[in-house]
Amino acid sequence: MKVLVATDKPFAKVAVDGIRKEIEAAGYELVLLEKYGEKTKLLEAVKDVEAIIIRSDVIDAEVLDAAQKLKIVVRAGAGYDNVDLEAATAHNVCVMNTPGQNSNAVAELAFGLMVMAVRNMYNGTSGTELKGKKLGIHAYGNVGRNVARIAKGFGMDIYAFDAFCPKEVIEKEGVKAVASAEELYSTCDVISLHIPATAETKNSINHALVNRMPKGGLLVNTARKEVINEAELIQLLEERTDLKYVTDIMPAANETFVSRFAGRYFSTPKKMGAQTAEANINAGIAAACQIVGFLKEGCEKFRVNK
Ligand code: 3PG
Repeated sequence: MKVLVATDKPFAKVAVDGIRKEIEAAGYELVLLEKYGEKTKLLEAVKDVEAIIIRSDVIDAEVLDAAQKLKIVVRAGAGYDNVDLEAATAHNVCVMNTPGQNSNAVAELAFGLMVMAVRNMYNGTSGTELKGKKLGIHAYGNVGRNVARIAKGFGMDIYAFDAFCPKEVIEKEGVKAVASAEELYSTCDVISLHIPATAETKNSINHALVNRMPKGGLLVNTARKEVINEAELIQLLEERTDLKYVTDIMPAANETFVSRFAGRYFSTPKKMGAQTAEANINAGIAAACQIVGFLKEGCEKFRVNK
């Protein structure tokens, strides 16, 4: 059996070594396709493999058509919006993710971006501190939880909204649960986004919502670019020169943001929230173990295309 690791954005070498160890111990062969750039290379590589480990790599119907022997795809990470679940089900392919394995790395980067923004992008002028500021965590999943844990160390006043997480669960962790996204944005100085990209959330971070933020508000995005209504955010940043936007997922309209909002906007050049050796090891090895468990014992824990 062949297991392909197809990562256009490669894991740290130490993580690949760990994945290889798990795959080979199970008696399988590891095939590595990194920084492949063009889809044709992916289409060629998937032809004779039974399993694939990916990151943000796109697995669509064309890839599934080319992968005649494929049984399982594991997204080493949380968000699986890059996989066509319906097509995978139609091809009888199991899709899994590895929830929680890279969430501390993403949460730490949210603070890296936050500190940079409140210190005026390190331009030498006097900024502000995070201590005592109201932080709004938009979605209280694995990353949101880690953000709350770190925010306590900064001495922030922590709020969260999650439509799917019971209030009691949030409040048990010393975080104030609010009843709506609108309330969260109206309340908080800093909003940290941790919602997945779904049909419901795409474009949902719009003018009306972000405009609720108090003077000097900061929006931090380590989630997905698709959740932002870019045209409306641009309009709002034009209208409100007090607002800042920092992101780990470069907007389609990056040039516009850079040219119009200098000093109030920053994007990492490449999404790098989960780009730590620790996160790569955790998510990569979890993916390898899930593949072995599935192929040897039929274990479907973490399946997302039920
Ligand atoms: C995730 O969904 O796990 C994160 O966004 C990380 O994605 P990446 O593996 O492409 O860095």
